[in-house]
Amino acid sequence: MANDLFITKSIKDFVDAGQLQELKRTLGPLALTSIGIGGVIGTGIFVLTGPAAAQHAGPAIVLSFILAGFGCIFAGLCYAEFASMIPVAGSAYSYSYATLGEFVAWFIGWDLIIEYLFAASTVAVGWSRYLGKLFQSLNLPYFPDNLTHAPVSFDEETYFTLTGAYINLPAVLIVLIIGFILYIGIRQSALVNNIIVAVKVSIVLAVIGFGAMYVMPGYWHPFIPPNTGTWGQFGWSGIFRAAPIIFFAYIGFDAVSTAAQEAKNPQRDVPIGIMASLIICTILYILMSGVLTGLMPYLQLNDAAPVATALMAHPELKWLVNWVIFGALAGLSSVILCMMLAQTRIFYAMAKDGLIYSSLGNVHAKFKTPHVATIITTLVAAPIAGVFPIGLLAELVSVGTLCAFVVVCIGVLVLRYTKPELERPFRVPAIWIISLSGVAVCGGMALSLGWPNVIRLVGWAIIGFIIYFTYGYRHSKLRARTTAQ
Ligand code: ALA
Repeated sequence: MANDLFITKSIKDFVDAGQLQELKRTLGPLALTSIGIGGVIGTGIFVLTGPAAAQHAGPAIVLSFILAGFGCIFAGLCYAEFASMIPVAGSAYSYSYATLGEFVAWFIGWDLIIEYLFAASTVAVGWSRYLGKLFQSLNLPYFPDNLTHAPVSFDEETYFTLTGAYINLPAVLIVLIIGFILYIGIRQSALVNNIIVAVKVSIVLAVIGFGAMYVMPGYWHPFIPPNTGTWGQFGWSGIFRAAPIIFFAYIGFDAVSTAAQEAKNPQRDVPIGIMASLIICTILYILMSGVLTGLMPYLQLNDAAPVATALMAHPELKWLVNWVIFGALAGLSSVILCMMLAQTRIFYAMAKDGLIYSSLGNVHAKFKTPHVATIITTLVAAPIAGVFPIGLLAELVSVGTLCAFVVVCIGVLVLRYTKPELERPFRVPAIWIISLSGVAVCGGMALSLGWPNVIRLVGWAIIGFIIYFTYGYRHSKLRARTTAQ
């Protein structure tokens, strides 16, 4: 059984499965880049930058963005090589199936649920906050507090406590609306996403452009505030502590690779989509965090809406505030859409392989979307968004994603040696350096999120293994084929 656990799917299996094309191939390089940007710019830049600068890095948050960006670019390059070689739905799950075997693939597929499904819920909670801000700034009546907050809060000492709220209703509603859009079609989803991405990128550029005119360079001194004596509070350790927190801002570029089976020319366009979205977002983040810390003293950025707060500090920029709230709402909506899109494609790929219940691989006769997977994703993400607090979800999402990145960085190197003959339309340059640097930076960030998060990830993996051995192992189509031969 031990060898049998690590059976790998041949590239021919993937190509053959890809030829049985059920999903529509409608996405070009622009739409794929847009899915990347749509999945990336959201809570990270609009919410987490401020507290990370105020509590850990100061103006040097820019360096944290560069560090986390490097980790993502290393992992992104590895994703791009895989995506050019195995252009099917399923992303890191499918790549692991081809390289490290079914057991690892299952682990990653299960782990990606944390990334995509939980990220959709996390961002829906952020969306709910910004909706409240919009209503407040327009003086419109809004839901009562007990319908807009999580009924439980969490901290490492007392764990879960009841807050007195019933449910975060706006968070539930946005997940349901986006689930509906995804149900009715990839083309519609891509169109909605393109519009939203145009809006949010314009607003980010406006903040950078107009904000830059009012930056006070004095706020950048000292650029690296001295450490307070506690690890992670400013100084270089603060930069390292902030990096995994704002890493959340980069999550989502890999969603491009989950849509490979709907790309017109996946071998060329998916790598373009991954790298273009990652480079564009990294540049925007560096500029935006530089401007924010130049607009007001970093200690005052400790706020749930730091971008709005920084603009408010300058009367000349107040006109931008409502646009920023609007842009954040739009931005967060497209992140939820891309995360849920990615999750449905992972379920689809796993169901096609027989590792999870096969109905999740069904494709709607008219809409050509994996509609059962879409319904399940929506029905699970919505209550999670309605019940859990943002902090707990966000750290879990980051540790799960970093784990997937580490496996992808290892997988691409392994495949260079175990299957050197495969055609690689895109090749990672200096593979040893990039792959091992990706493992070091992403693994380091995962560990610096703290042991409780790593332990939660292990707990999640154990639940996954129980399901694998009681269901997936026995229903694996690859195993059935291999045994029959
Ligand atoms: N990168 C996404 C965000 O920041 C998940 O919201």
